[in-house]
Amino acid sequence: MIKEELKLKEALIVEGGQKLEGVLEVSGAKNAALPNMAATILTDEEVVIDNIPDLLDIRTMEKLLTTIGIEINHIKNKTYSFKLKDLKSLTAPYDLVSKMRASILVLGPMLAKFGYAEVSLPGGCSIGTRPVDLHLKALEKMGADIKIEHGYIKASAPQGLKGAHIFFDKITVTGTENIMMAATLAHGKTVIENAALEPEVVDLALMLKKMGANIKGEGTHRIEIEGVKSLRGTYHTVIPDRIEAGTFAVLSALTGGKIIIKNYPNHYLEYVNEVLENIGISIINISENEVIVKRKDILKPVNIETKEYPLFPTDLQAQFMTLLCFADGVSEITENIFENRFMHVPELNRLGANIEIKGKTAIIKPVKKFSGASIKATDLRASAAMVIAGLVAEGETTIHSIYHLDRGYEHIDQKLKSIGAKIRREIIEEE
Ligand code: EPZ
Repeated sequence: MIKEELKLKEALIVEGGQKLEGVLEVSGAKNAALPNMAATILTDEEVVIDNIPDLLDIRTMEKLLTTIGIEINHIKNKTYSFKLKDLKSLTAPYDLVSKMRASILVLGPMLAKFGYAEVSLPGGCSIGTRPVDLHLKALEKMGADIKIEHGYIKASAPQGLKGAHIFFDKITVTGTENIMMAATLAHGKTVIENAALEPEVVDLALMLKKMGANIKGEGTHRIEIEGVKSLRGTYHTVIPDRIEAGTFAVLSALTGGKIIIKNYPNHYLEYVNEVLENIGISIINISENEVIVKRKDILKPVNIETKEYPLFPTDLQAQFMTLLCFADGVSEITENIFENRFMHVPELNRLGANIEIKGKTAIIKPVKKFSGASIKATDLRASAAMVIAGLVAEGETTIHSIYHLDRGYEHIDQKLKSIGAKIRREIIEEE
């Protein structure tokens, strides 16, 4: 079998109950690096981006940009340069887009820079249909002609895009990012109402302003962008991954390890830290950007509703569900963002959890322990919850389909091994 297929057969074997001690370093945020990389399409000058995490999704975005004609050079460990050499293609092909729906982030920049773009429809993914209708409606309002043919979005704006007053009926993170990027080179002013507030959106705006874009209001629900003729190159550092950081906090609390977490972005996790506090887990700052996690003996149950930033992030839902299995009472988690983000529930129940789903709400009853079993990673963030569950389960847990994990967590098995976890990869035939 070719290597790629073997990848799909890779599994993680986790030995539970190990004492964990040491330092976990939070990497650059995948969901910041992806739009940061897409923004390099907007300029003919060189852009240098530092702290890019080593993830499958980053590799996919690299391939996408190279296909378009951007030359990417690896300068040193996590620093890459991006420079549009000669335009090679205006098509983001299905084989790449189907691997990563965030590929839609090249649509806005390509349309704004070149006046034309063909991007394969991303297709659904395991957590839901994930439509892009809000992206397309907004671009049409900016004067683009959009057709859907043979599974491809064909967008053209030969005279360039024009500023428009965009109202997003739903808060969309990549929708806000796509339109903000497109608007930087549009003729006139664009206003985005009901814009997303996520730190990754704010960070993208800061990068675009360093490139010469005229943006106001990032971090609020109303962003104003005055189009400019062209953008220049810049140097940008990817912000820390708040979801990886939150995942490490749950891991540390559950395993009772003496773990220092480096680059923990407290300012992006204020609400999450408050929920942890309510459960009985404190995040203690020990230096400028290092924290340790202290927990009380008894973990208290809480009710959580996933919402847009700055409230509880859907990307931490599975990890907190795993944690709340060990609280001393019944908790409820309601998933409001995606229609199918509870696939980890049957997997956790195989380990001994006692979770029942009622519509959008999971009811988590307390259990004393997990016992190791064969389980499956289901979506990118939930796969980390499976690893955490395996680390606290008695005996051995085999986690199948771990390519999900490699899409979103940089070298997580090496990071965990470095603090004493017994975890190894194996190629095994999936049943
Ligand atoms: C971003 O996805 C993140 N991905 C997701 O992280 C994250 O879970 C999500 O935001 C919510 O925080 C990236 O930033 C690359 P949305 P995005 O558009 O932008 C609906 C991960 O694991 N919607 O904010 O695709 C949509 O179906 C990923 O890193 C439309 O209906 O999410 C969802 O219900 C998973 N039409 C809601 O809005 C549209 O045109 C929010 O989606 C767009 C979205």
